[in-house]
Amino acid sequence: MSAVIIYMSLHGCAEKAAILLSEMSWKKVDLVNLKFQDPPRLDNYSTVIIGASVHMGSIQGKIRKFCQEHEWELITKRLGLYLCHMFEGESATRQFNEAYSETLRAHAVAKGLFGGEFNLGKMSSYEKMLIEKAAGITQSVEKLNTRAIEGFGKIIFHLDKS
Ligand SMILES: Cc1cc2nc3c(=O)[nH]c(=O)nc-3n(C[C@H](O)[C@H](O)[C@H](O)COP(=O)(O)O)c2cc1C
Repeated sequence: MSAVIIYMSLHGCAEKAAILLSEMSWKKVDLVNLKFQDPPRLDNYSTVIIGASVHMGSIQGKIRKFCQEHEWELITKRLGLYLCHMFEGESATRQFNEAYSETLRAHAVAKGLFGGEFNLGKMSSYEKMLIEKAAGITQSVEKLNTRAIEGFGKIIFHLDKS
């Protein structure tokens, strides 16, 4: 059976992570962006990866809702959960714990804190003003952790064993 990555992304970072992960698998991986697509039926998938990004302390509501409504089904799958974010250390872990339920976190075989990007070119003036005020950011920053993505991909797609 195949794999699916269900994700949402405001400025493309969580999407970049989804594409990088999908390219790691030998088998076909479906990508479903809940911003534009309906949630898929999970029956056909043995592996499900959920990805989101944090903005103002929260992940995308549609991802949260999907996880709540499908928790019972997700715990029958080989499950991976990841987050794009810019806070580091304990704050990043706290955000991950708030994003995904204890049940899902306990069941997941792969959990990823992938870091992220401040891409000023994709932000509204309001967002630029917010991150300048909150974090003093006036230039684009790229901190997507490709090693963490690779490590996550190896676990979720069993690549160490192939
Ligand atoms: C307006 C705004 C608010 C943000 N708030 C947070 C936050 O509360 N915590 C955090 O870790 N990162 C925060 N970030 C950083 C994003 O998580 C980071 O830019 C991430 O790469 C976005 O991924 P996306 O492009 O897939 O949405 C924020 C970024 C913006 C632009």
